[in-house]
Order: sequence, then structure tokens, then C-alpha cells
Amino acid sequence: MRKKVLFVASECTPFVKTGGLADVVGSLPQALSKNGKMEVRVILPLHQKIIADWQDQLNGVASVYVQVGWRKQEARLYQLTHQGIHYYFIGNDYYFARNTIYGYYDDGERYIFFCQAVIEALSVLDFHPDILHAHDWQAGLAVAFAKISNRVNNMKTVFTIHNIKYQGIMPKDAFQDLFNLSSEHISGLEWNGLLNCMKSGIFHADKITTVSPTYAEEIKTPYYGEGLYPMLAARQDDVIGIINGINLDEYNPTTDPHLSSNYTYSGINKKKNKELIQRKLGLSVDPEKPVYAMITRLVEQKGLHLVNAIIDEFLHEDIQFVVLGAGNYEFEHFLYHAAERNKHKLAVYLGFDEALARQIYAASDFFVMPSLFEPCGLAQLIALQYKTVPIVRETGGLKDTVTPFDETNGSGNGFSFSNYNAHELLHILKYSLDIYHTPDKWSSLLENVNKSNFSWNDSAHEYTNLYLSLDKNERLCRP
Ligand code: GLC
Repeated sequence: MRKKVLFVASECTPFVKTGGLADVVGSLPQALSKNGKMEVRVILPLHQKIIADWQDQLNGVASVYVQVGWRKQEARLYQLTHQGIHYYFIGNDYYFARNTIYGYYDDGERYIFFCQAVIEALSVLDFHPDILHAHDWQAGLAVAFAKISNRVNNMKTVFTIHNIKYQGIMPKDAFQDLFNLSSEHISGLEWNGLLNCMKSGIFHADKITTVSPTYAEEIKTPYYGEGLYPMLAARQDDVIGIINGINLDEYNPTTDPHLSSNYTYSGINKKKNKELIQRKLGLSVDPEKPVYAMITRLVEQKGLHLVNAIIDEFLHEDIQFVVLGAGNYEFEHFLYHAAERNKHKLAVYLGFDEALARQIYAASDFFVMPSLFEPCGLAQLIALQYKTVPIVRETGGLKDTVTPFDETNGSGNGFSFSNYNAHELLHILKYSLDIYHTPDKWSSLLENVNKSNFSWNDSAHEYTNLYLSLDKNERLCRP
């Protein structure tokens, strides 16, 4: 009998995406279903964008009612099948018929409703999960409600932390306003006197995973643990780091339809992509010129303060730099002005465009990711897939996927630096340029990049083992 797993999440490709969470929820179920031991389905809120793009394929299944404080809210259930995976959606126009998926004053209430609706839905769906696997704070309360409601006999729970920075924190009044819980349950949902959705997931889940082994260690410390480290340290035996993979069929420079020149290895065809991007973005056209790239949300996490501090100095070198992304005004502003000062050397595209992103991955020689913290990071994996050398800070998944190039024995698939310090970044950028100009070293580095492979296979295997171990693993007491 295949184990049945229900993923609970707020976003998932190809339906809605704001970040890497959507990529993981969109690609891991396929990888898990491949080995025949698991059947994975996914439940999501029915966001406005999903109604707009997928209306024709959505089938109504049932309706359930959810008590949100004094209000009874209807949750309409829909389903569709896409590429062999079964998706369920929780529809409620009041909460989810909005232009964006986060960013509202009542986000907390919206996801409390969602999590309660997921648990209600379990009694009417034709799918009875053995394991409920919730992702990030938006789904944390589904784990808590599953445990508290006791309605779902023997169902095990897994909670995955994709980013501990965002915890879904609400004032304590929410307990009176939005829940009908007896007081004994409050402490499991509360942290420092506030309602904390991420803590609720961590507290109640049978197992807690996060998206890289290094991040699993980091979040147990005050620097990275965002206030929740004592909780994680208390449950350390149940906290597991499993590195994310990427869908290699989707991110494949040999077949990527967004590229005008497909390629398998770094070489002449990759350089054609460089010329194209140089022309498109107003850089001087020269396929030999080293191109450094960043494709990122423009937020503090991504190390933009470091880039701001050194970009002008690095641009004194004979290089080009390309940035694609959108985010905080502070960073958009500095990048815009840096590009004005460094015409034909620095190209900045403020916004997101999937086709352009793929063309930049393909065009560049180096991919820069100096993150302050990085639970896993998917962009460095995509870069490796496009034969582009990553330059990263040694944190979280960046540390687990990029091994620094070692000149003495030719090992390593990128460059890395340790401290969150702009001069360490500048130093490693300049060093990478030296290697670029030393042909034998550059070609051994590219050979290692060509061999890097971050498909989902190994990680799906680890999740499978984790799911299978849950049966044996009765958790008798909670911290
Ligand atoms: C979050 C993290 C990122 C990770 C992604 C998917 O966006 O910031 O590092 O790769 O989730 O797990």
C-alpha cells in the first residue's frame, strides 16, 4: 500500500509563486510519487490568480464550514489534476479573492481560516492521508489543529521550515477573536506572549524538517534562530535538514525554450547567450568579457548591503554585472543609480521576467549569492545547472551545495566566503576573476560545475525514509 501524504501550503508552482517555497511544493510531490511508495496530494488556498488562470479545469467537490471566532465561514473545495498530481483548493472569496497572496492586515486570520478549513476538509475528501506535511508558517496551524482536534486518527505530521524569519505572529487577542480553543491548548500556539503560527507547527509536528542540513543546525542558535531557537534546540532529535532539489526537466539548458541557443556544456553555445544578453541589456558586446549575475528578490536576506558597499569598486575591473529582481525600494534605488553611474558595465532590470531570468542564467559566467542567511537557496542550483559558477556566502544550503574551488587539487564547484563582510565578498569576486583568466584552472572548475547534479532523487529518498519511519516513531510527550 502506498503511503498517502497531503502537502499543505500557501503557494505552489505552476499555480502561484512568490518564492522558492512554491518551487519546492510544486516539484517535490512529483519526485516522491516516482518511486511508487508514496501518493502525494497538495492542498492550497484558491487564490484569485488560480481562479483566473485555471477556472476551466477546477471541479467543485464539496463545501465545509469553519468557525473563525464568532463567524461561520464557508470553505468551498475544488480539485484538479495536473501532470499526474492531484490538487485541492480551499475557496473563500472574502479571504482569497485578492490581487496578491500575502501583504494584508488580516493575513493571520486568512491563514488561520485556511488551516482550519484543511482539517475540516479531511472529513469530506476521498483521500485519507497517513501524513499531513505542512510548509512554513501559513500552514503551521494545520499541524496544530490536526493534533488538537484528534479527529484524524493516527495521522502523522511533518512541518517544514523554509524560512524561519517569517513566523506568522499575531497579538494574543487573536485567541479570543479567531479561535474556539480551550485554554489548555493556548500554550502550544503561543510564544513570548503572542500567537506564533510557526512555533505552533514546530511544537505539534511529529517531525520538523528544514531545507538544508546546515540551516537545521543554524536555526538552533540565537544568530539564525529568530527567537525560536530554544524550541528547536529542545526538539533537536526531531529536526532534520534535507536539501532541496530542482526539477531538471524544467531547468535544462539543453532544452530550455527561453534560450535562443541551447547548450549542454559551457562553451561556444553558452557564449552566444552572453552576446544576446549584452545586446538586450545595453552592455558592450564581447563574449570574452566575464559576466557576473544576480537574480534575486531585493531584500536584506540576499546580501544586498554587501553588494551596495563594493559594487563600484568591483566594476573598476574589466567585467560586466547583471541584476534582475524586485523588492525593497532601498535596494532598487541603489541599483538603479549604480547602473546610471556604470553604463555598459552594470545592467539592472527591476522586476521579474522568467524568460529573461533563464537567459541571464545561461549568459553569465558567475552567479553571486552573498546571503545573510539562506535556508536552502534554489538559484545557485539553477546556476550550476546552466553551467554558471556560483559565488556564495557559507550559510545554510549555500554551504551545503557549493564547495569552494581548491587550486591545489582542482576540486570544488564554485567560490565562497565566510563572514558577512563586504570586503570578504570583494576579495572572493576578484579571486574568481583571477581563476577565470587562468585557463587550466578555469577549465577544471567548469568540469566540476558540469558534473554537479541537484535533482530531487536523493532528497525524495530521504523524505520517503522519514515518512516511513513515522509509523515506528510514536511520540509520547511534547516539550
Ligand atoms: C525560502 C528560502 C530559500 C529556500 C526556499 C525553498 O524561500 O529563503 O532559501 O530555497 O524557501 O525551500
